[in-house]
Amino acid sequence: MIKRAIYPGTFDPVTLGHLDIVKRGLELFPELIVGIAENPKKKPLFSIEERKEMFIESLKEIGLNGKVKVKTFNTLLVEFAKREGAVAILRGIRIVSDMDHEFTMASLNRKLYPEIETVFLMPSDDYAYLSSSAVREIAFYGGDVSQFVTPFVERKLKEKFRR
Ligand code: COA
Repeated sequence: MIKRAIYPGTFDPVTLGHLDIVKRGLELFPELIVGIAENPKKKPLFSIEERKEMFIESLKEIGLNGKVKVKTFNTLLVEFAKREGAVAILRGIRIVSDMDHEFTMASLNRKLYPEIETVFLMPSDDYAYLSSSAVREIAFYGGDVSQFVTPFVERKLKEKFRR
């Protein structure tokens, strides 16, 4: 059986930290599906279609075009994982304080679907402090986000905040 993993998140927007996890995930799993959660409770800045487009274009920009599928979902994560035939959920742990939230989610997901494993990966130190909300805030005030996101995402942020 092909070991397929899901890398879920809100990705509002995708950052170089998320892409670093994708690269690491591809070393472990022959098939990786990025699952973009609609997540209305987070009131995302970008629509789900925009977030998907940004992920696809960013993968092209870092040379991973065609290696990863990008899909959206608006169900429980475990339902999505089941539907996609995934054996694992991939999550990035940046700093120790991420652990609380991640452990809770992984435990609940295991209760809901015991067949799925959550695999935690550590991004490069360069991205340990990075988050989508920090990127949004820097871009909102007109700061330079080029070291945190791909050129495509940088352009989309500029467009969004110009309006
Ligand atoms: N690089 C940069 N940022 C990273 C990162 C990395 N490697 N890893 C995590 N982050 C950041 C994200 O950018 C995000 O930042 P922000 O909140 O400041 O915008 C934050 O860490 C975590 O967000 P996200 O990855 O979106 O995870 P989440 O905790 O919001 O959970 C889902 C997202 C999709 C996994 C979760 O909401 C879910 O499973 N939804 C489906 C419904 C469901 O099944 N619920 C029950 C779960 S038990």
